[in-house]
Amino acid sequence: MSETANSEHHDDHVDEGKRDFILIATGTVAAAGAATFAWPLVAQMGKAADTMAAGSIEINLSGIAEGQQLKMLWRGKPVFVRHRTPAEIAEAENTDISKCPDPETDAERLVPTPDGKVNPKYLVMVGVCTHFGCVPVGESGDFGGWYCPCHGSHYDTAGRIRKGPAPKNLEIPPYEYLSDTVIKVG
Ligand code: FES
Repeated sequence: MSETANSEHHDDHVDEGKRDFILIATGTVAAAGAATFAWPLVAQMGKAADTMAAGSIEINLSGIAEGQQLKMLWRGKPVFVRHRTPAEIAEAENTDISKCPDPETDAERLVPTPDGKVNPKYLVMVGVCTHFGCVPVGESGDFGGWYCPCHGSHYDTAGRIRKGPAPKNLEIPPYEYLSDTVIKVG
């Protein structure tokens, strides 16, 4: 694992021509690496040593363009941060959740911003299939969200399981908004 001191931004393309990408350091240290995954990851850490020790990461959302997804490593797990398009948000909000195996509204899967409202643009999830732990592929599957190719689980644009063997929606990690554009995961 390598470290880059005083880095403000770190961009790197990821996989399969998808519009996924890696960012971004809001702090002074960015750690890159994670060769255990099929695609490169950045574990992006805040500048405070105690924050790093606690395994928290700060993410500047303003660096993620609409339709793009950040993938990063947090406590050994991939985390997805997707800046959803208006169509993706509409799809997520207008779903009849009574048809979902693990019913949750889109708003229930979001964390309020400092003004107490939710910002549906940004969806933050642990990128681990709830079946047997593969990493789902974004912008894929029958519901336009994520698709797990291991055994064929389809997640929608809110990360809810809609079809296939996975029993639960993609997990929402603990996170909070430090400002309108910065979140802290962990
Ligand atoms: S691990 Fe994802 S469908 Fe089995």
